[in-house]
Amino acid sequence: MIIKKLTLHNFRNYEDETFCFSDGINVLFGRNAQGKTNCAEAVFYLCTGASLRIRHDRQLIRQGADRACVRAEAVSRYGNVTLQADIFESGRELRVNGVKIARSVDLLGNMNSVFFSPGELRLIQDGPDERRRFLNLSISQTSRSYCTALLRYSRILEQRNNLLKERDASMILETLPVWDEQLARYAATVVRQRKEFVSMLSPLAAEAHAYLTDGAETLSVGWEKDYGEEEGEIAENLLRELSASYERDMRLGFTTVGPHRDDMRIRIDGRDAKGFASQGQTRTAALALKLAEVEIFKQRAGEAPVLILDDVMSELDLPRRKKLLARVGGIQCILTCTHAERVLYGRETNKIMIRGGKIVS
Ligand SMILES: Nc1ncnc2c1ncn2[C@@H]1O[C@H](COP(=O)(O)OP(=O)(O)OP(=O)(O)O)[C@@H](O)[C@H]1O
Ligand SMILES: [Mg+2]
Repeated sequence: MIIKKLTLHNFRNYEDETFCFSDGINVLFGRNAQGKTNCAEAVFYLCTGASLRIRHDRQLIRQGADRACVRAEAVSRYGNVTLQADIFESGRELRVNGVKIARSVDLLGNMNSVFFSPGELRLIQDGPDERRRFLNLSISQTSRSYCTALLRYSRILEQRNNLLKERDASMILETLPVWDEQLARYAATVVRQRKEFVSMLSPLAAEAHAYLTDGAETLSVGWEKDYGEEEGEIAENLLRELSASYERDMRLGFTTVGPHRDDMRIRIDGRDAKGFASQGQTRTAALALKLAEVEIFKQRAGEAPVLILDDVMSELDLPRRKKLLARVGGIQCILTCTHAERVLYGRETNKIMIRGGKIVS
């Protein structure tokens, strides 16, 4: 998977700019607040239809403009692909190879990327939300069935939660089983695919972590909750848990069991990384997870994703920087930093200097 060209029109602080990327390491450099992350964000947005920084697409439109357009030309193992997003105040239109797509899900899998920035430390430090978000975005990129099941699950969950806030208890009790049947079915797909993903992730993350720390520490990743092996069994177990929690759910006004509550366990040397790992350990663990994600994409999609490393180099010590660079040889990388020469150690790279939303060299 190689992105050849990225065109930004009224996107963030860019008015009109076209980036030509090389197959190897592309370094976007420049001072703070010039547009490096914005460019990286545009790539991720075209891959997933989502941004890591915002909730509302309209924030992506350049101030003063009324629409933005992001377009990428890439080459995947299936051939050339063009992705385009037109973003308006009121919504967006997505196109794959010039054809408008009806559902955002259809954007997924055309261009894959793994995004790593200092913000990814939240993956280790914050609550379960961040870890579920990581899984959801990552699995969705290689599995549309996951993405579809997750969307349906979320929709039904919202309706179930609305129902739980009603006053009429007997009406609630009568209606809940109807929602639960569907909820459990989609949940089963989500749970099974998460489990599969985490079981792939676990050894790969441990290996990447051992590589980064020279085997000094052991990272282990696992899933806290076990609903069973295959989807029928998972659905049955969840259905049982759902009906057992009616009283509590009604009292609290929301659904207290299900994959929207589950968490991934991340341990360093057997201890919970959250609340125990140092800054450096957290950074290394997060990086190991991302490198493992790259490997999973290679296995599942049959080719490497584009690796986006936003502002990561300055946060790593020298041996880890060198190890990271050695590891990413052979895959396309978009790397942002403030000083290109300080992080690359004489490597052959495509350097792009950015100032005020413009490429200056
Ligand atoms: N919708 C928008 N319209 C105009 N400017 C915007 C918009 N959204 C963000 N910006 C501006 O884009 C600028 C560059 O942001 P960006 O995050 O890409 O900087 P950066 O080069 O990554 O800097 P740093 O090195 O500090 O991370 C910021 O000054 C921000 O205010
Ligand atoms: Mg930045």
